[in-house]
Amino acid sequence: MILNEGDVRMKASITDFPDEFYDGKIVLVRVDFNVPLKEGKVDDDYRIRSSIPTLDYLCSRGAKLVVVSHLGRPDGKPDPAMSLRPTAERLQSLTSKRVKWVGECIGKDVENAVKDLRVGEILLLENLRFHVEEEKNDGEFSRALASLAEVFVNDAFSASHRKHSSTYGVPALLQYRLAGLQLQKDLTYLRKVRDEPDHPFILVVGGAKIRDKIDAMKNLIEKVDKVLVGGCIAYTLLASKGVSIGKSPIENDVLAWGSEILKREEKILLPEDHIISPDVDLPTQAELVRGGIPANMKGFDIGPLTSQRYTSIIASGGGTVFWNGPMGLFEIREFSHGTTDVAQAIALAHFRGSTTIIAGGDSVSALEKAGVKESEVSHISTGGGASLEYVGGKILPGIEILSDK
Ligand code: 3PG
Repeated sequence: MILNEGDVRMKASITDFPDEFYDGKIVLVRVDFNVPLKEGKVDDDYRIRSSIPTLDYLCSRGAKLVVVSHLGRPDGKPDPAMSLRPTAERLQSLTSKRVKWVGECIGKDVENAVKDLRVGEILLLENLRFHVEEEKNDGEFSRALASLAEVFVNDAFSASHRKHSSTYGVPALLQYRLAGLQLQKDLTYLRKVRDEPDHPFILVVGGAKIRDKIDAMKNLIEKVDKVLVGGCIAYTLLASKGVSIGKSPIENDVLAWGSEILKREEKILLPEDHIISPDVDLPTQAELVRGGIPANMKGFDIGPLTSQRYTSIIASGGGTVFWNGPMGLFEIREFSHGTTDVAQAIALAHFRGSTTIIAGGDSVSALEKAGVKESEVSHISTGGGASLEYVGGKILPGIEILSDK
């Protein structure tokens, strides 16, 4: 088993300290409340629910919590559509502790709100990415955040592959930098997949954020037995093979990489049929096509043949299935069948003895929409890109910076 400096077993956790340690201390907790919103409300609260054990643990030991997160990619500017305020409301409905809100993450209002915090209360700050400094890991921004607290806790495994202020710059400035309970849970499962996966090891990968998945897939290709590809990443790989993909979204700058990874053709399965439509808002004009996609059409889901091929591989059982990213635009009923089939096949694989890991916000929502319960899979990881990178063998900056045990 490979142990590296980013391994959480070598890192200090919130449970390594006596209860009295937290009494009256201000603890800055980095969570990942990057959740889908719909009409100003939280549409899927899995990531918020996942943070409750850590928040409750610290509150009930007398800590005062300052909770920080990002939501979406607002490009360093305030955007009301990406405010964390709806997550404060949802958090309050999930915990008996008092949740307070302040519409900034640095500055006088924040400092005053922290001063007013009482033992056992939670103060949630506004979206960190409303400041361009967050993603730049800016020193002054990190100091402003770090000055709010004495202890740092990372419970955002899903953001730990980012070397940002809140995941790296802030903890670097504090003496106590501890792993939260959800982060530990994620790593316990993912470490097993990284170091000793049962075979056949099937990677099911879809969705967007293609660039993020590139390096991780390159590292993983040696470990896995099969990669089943759907979503936008499939169109990019098909395009690099010269298959016509119509107007489907692709990332041109990764086409060369596409041809390189496809040299491992025996391991990689691409869709052979597709659900297509002229545009996203025309699902009623959806059609099924085999082979290439016509020039005026876009692909929105894998077709039934592909689905059948993928699900029979997934459901064979006895190995490991790691799923990151939907097969299509599953939020729209007409484009949801491939993703639903995969989710149900994963539940069947679990029943047949496979270790099944679902990684990433979209895959978690897809699982819920397909009617698969949390108890029907081995583990739901809060992290998509982060999980892929970790399982591929990378050291994540947000884990590496935590205090050693
Ligand atoms: C995720 O959803 O994978 C995490 O919240 C990280 O978000 P990011 O890819 O925008 O950094």
